Amino acid sequence: ASITRFPLIPVKGIPLMNHIANNWDSIWAFCPDPSDILIATYPKAGTTWTQEIVDLLLHNGDAEACKRAPTPVRSPFLEICSPPPIPSGLELLGEMDPPRMIKTHLPIQLVPPAFWEKKCKTIYVARNAKDNLVSYYYFDCMNLTQPEPGPWEGYIHKFMHGELAWGSWYDHVKSYWLEKENKNILYIFYEDMKENPRREIERIMRYLDLSVSDEVINRIVELTSFKNMKDNPMANYSCIPASVFDHSVSAFMRKGEVGDWINHFTPEQSKMFDEDYEKQMKDVNIPFKTLI
Ligand code: PPS
Repeated sequence: ASITRFPLIPVKGIPLMNHIANNWDSIWAFCPDPSDILIATYPKAGTTWTQEIVDLLLHNGDAEACKRAPTPVRSPFLEICSPPPIPSGLELLGEMDPPRMIKTHLPIQLVPPAFWEKKCKTIYVARNAKDNLVSYYYFDCMNLTQPEPGPWEGYIHKFMHGELAWGSWYDHVKSYWLEKENKNILYIFYEDMKENPRREIERIMRYLDLSVSDEVINRIVELTSFKNMKDNPMANYSCIPASVFDHSVSAFMRKGEVGDWINHFTPEQSKMFDEDYEKQMKDVNIPFKTLI
């Protein structure tokens, strides 16, 4: 069967895949349990990594328990109707008992309001713009349900103008940053996770009111290394058939590094991007690690 690269349709001004737009009323009406944990990100910021960490923390570092199913089944993707074999996020959630780990890429204003009414714990992961863009570009090449990325240079412009699925990276990272105190959101950075995974795993543990031994933390650091997750069929998205994720174009677990953008942006593209970045980010000071 041929796979559709879904066109984007705006929902409250945010471009989303058309099946999300068509199903919007049910998504918006979703009512979580207060014990549910929301993992929110702009696409390609470190979602899967964080899902694995949270699952391992909830299971006291039990690797086998966390291999019970692939990531998108263990931690449903709220707004997506996945192509087979993964059922849609809402369907999966309907069959699971709380506490559930729920993934979303929605910007904060599109998160179903019941998450805030129920005071669900929310972990937001942000990744520096240039690496996030590069990762998204490769993903759009390999994920045959995402819109065609087109040529690299044009893709940079689409990112800068918020034309990719789930909209503007700039508005996304700002929208959660500005609400993090109000809504008790744990805001973490991909770069900090790379720099000191133990420290960030411990932050997540404390935020979730969990307590695991040092030995278990060490094990979680090891199990969630890029290499181990890349080799873990329950975390590396090999469950998605090649007709949907063409792993020969790019692996889902592609590189897992900070600063890979330097291998993709020309000096001119980097300068143009930085100048625009200054403008788009000047109103909110988010401590992204500077990348030269
Ligand atoms: S998605 O599709 O939005 O859920 O993708 P997401 O998981 O947010 O992002 C995928 C990128 O995260 C990298 N990744 C990791 N990096 C370091 N360590 C670990 N354990 C890890 N797991 C996933 C993955 O390789 C993608 O980044 P790139 O730069 O493309 O390699």
